[in-house]
Amino acid sequence: MATIHPMVNIAVKAARRAGRIINQASGNLDVLTVRHKSLNDLVSEVDRAAEAAIIDTLRTAYPEHAILAEESGAAGQSEYVWIIDPLDGTTNFLHGFPQYCVSIALVHKGVITHGVIYDPSRNDLYIASRGRGAYLNDKRLRVSRRDKLIDALVGTGFPFRMFDYLDAYVSMLKDFMTKTAGVRRPGSAALDLAAVAAGRLDGFWEIGLAPWDMAAGCLMITEAGGLVGDLEGNEGYLHGGNIVAGNAKIFAQMLQVIQPHLSPALRSKGA
Ligand code: IPD
Ligand code: CA
Ligand code: CA
Repeated sequence: MATIHPMVNIAVKAARRAGRIINQASGNLDVLTVRHKSLNDLVSEVDRAAEAAIIDTLRTAYPEHAILAEESGAAGQSEYVWIIDPLDGTTNFLHGFPQYCVSIALVHKGVITHGVIYDPSRNDLYIASRGRGAYLNDKRLRVSRRDKLIDALVGTGFPFRMFDYLDAYVSMLKDFMTKTAGVRRPGSAALDLAAVAAGRLDGFWEIGLAPWDMAAGCLMITEAGGLVGDLEGNEGYLHGGNIVAGNAKIFAQMLQVIQPHLSPALRSKGA
């Protein structure tokens, strides 16, 4: 494995610190205080404590960098921005369903440059740096080679907080159910994207994500030889929130399935 960039080492330290907080709390879920941010949008003291630990580690190393974090929002102005999801898959976590992770990415001048995803229940560490590849626990990641959608296993996320695009989404889902080998909804977008990078899923799509759900995972996929785009395959997905990803062949076929279901609001902005 190529030498790890110092910024990745710091992000790994931050992610592991958050992972320890999450693992400790996972043994005692009954005593957690949980608050609804909005319908089905839950935050626990674990999300907050994990985020505080991550920010503390990053700030100690890079006091001048800016932060965009799910629970505490944006802070600072810099060409370097750390994008943080302290616990991706909170609903799974709160139910003791072990499919959640910590996701941290560094964006430099608008380009995702480093990414770390840490799955604390399996002790799996994914890292990626632009131009240097993506790794899971030191093993180089490659997207799958499956080339027919009908043989593909694809991941997705169901809308569960915001239902504006529910009908469009369900019609896409129906098509994918009949045109793939299977559809999975594991419940942590960052881990789903990491699974595409690892070739465990051949593709993925979701509507209405936030930058912290996607930033690290998208870099993992492109560094593993895959493609990422919005629902029409274009750039701008990180802040647009809608995403399609996969190996090149499956990515192209997924875009074709999605295309007939796109309302104007779901099309690429400015394209
Ligand atoms: C959520 C998870 C889920 C996805 C949602 C995300 P959270 O993140 O990634 O899989 O479907 O859109 O918001 O709230 O658990 O950090
Ligand atoms: Ca998330
Ligand atoms: Ca979260």
